[in-house]
Amino acid sequence: MTDTTLKATAAASGASATERFLTDKTGSPSRTADTARVNTLATAVITAVHDVIRTHRATYEEYNALKSWLISVGQDGEWPLFLDVWIEHVVEEVAAADRKGSKGTIEGPYYVPGAPALPGTAALPMRDGEPGTPLLFQGQVTSASGEPLPGALLEMWQADDDGLYAQFAPGIPEWNLRGTVVADDQGGFAVTTVQPAPYQIPTDGSCGRLVAAAGWHPWRPAHLHLKVSAPGHETLTTQLYFKGGAYVDDDVASAVKPELVLDPTPSAGGVAEVTYDFVLDKA
Ligand code: DHB
Ligand code: FE
Repeated sequence: MTDTTLKATAAASGASATERFLTDKTGSPSRTADTARVNTLATAVITAVHDVIRTHRATYEEYNALKSWLISVGQDGEWPLFLDVWIEHVVEEVAAADRKGSKGTIEGPYYVPGAPALPGTAALPMRDGEPGTPLLFQGQVTSASGEPLPGALLEMWQADDDGLYAQFAPGIPEWNLRGTVVADDQGGFAVTTVQPAPYQIPTDGSCGRLVAAAGWHPWRPAHLHLKVSAPGHETLTTQLYFKGGAYVDDDVASAVKPELVLDPTPSAGGVAEVTYDFVLDKA
């Protein structure tokens, strides 16, 4: 794939992510939020910005650059990308502070509910000759008290070997590398997939301009996304990374945790194998 194709596709991903968010996350904060809480949070954010301006003696030129950049993030449909890359990891840290079971991390913008149901031992939907190293990902889902959770759901989604997500990049079958795995009667699962490639946030939109202007890089390490759920338990939203992979120690979205790094073993026939168990907190 040429660099130009990849860039064009990535920009389309950003616009689709905005549409997806507006479709799925339907709460209307202005109607449901409590005035005192909005006052607290909005005042704190505005005050924090004032502090930055005073501390760093920001100029009118910089203020106007910010204004035009904020306008362009909306025009490019890149608010989901911006927020999920630079803000969500702290929201997740606060939300999960009391969790006893498996670690989670950010959801990101590319989850789609309703992926096809698959038995506990299954392959994710993929194209004939799907590029990438085959991966057997297996384990068990249990509750924090140690009981297996039969029929637990593992919703999985991931980028392909080009770092692209189905439904957010053109030309990929709708549910490619997306599935809802139903664990067996012991909470067990054994999923065949391919190892994803690192993901590059779009370089041709507003987030890309920020990254370039600040001298950062636009990459996330290769990752599998999961939402693991079972009745009576808190849903775990997580991602798993690959030991030694590019950007594992330098994720633009700051979402890697040591507990989330897989170390698959190469096995016969070129399939990498890894076991990873999930522990869910009681709801
Ligand atoms: C973004 C993309 C991802 O695949 C992810 O896991 C997190 C964030 C993003 O572009 O914002
Ligand atoms: Fe992702």
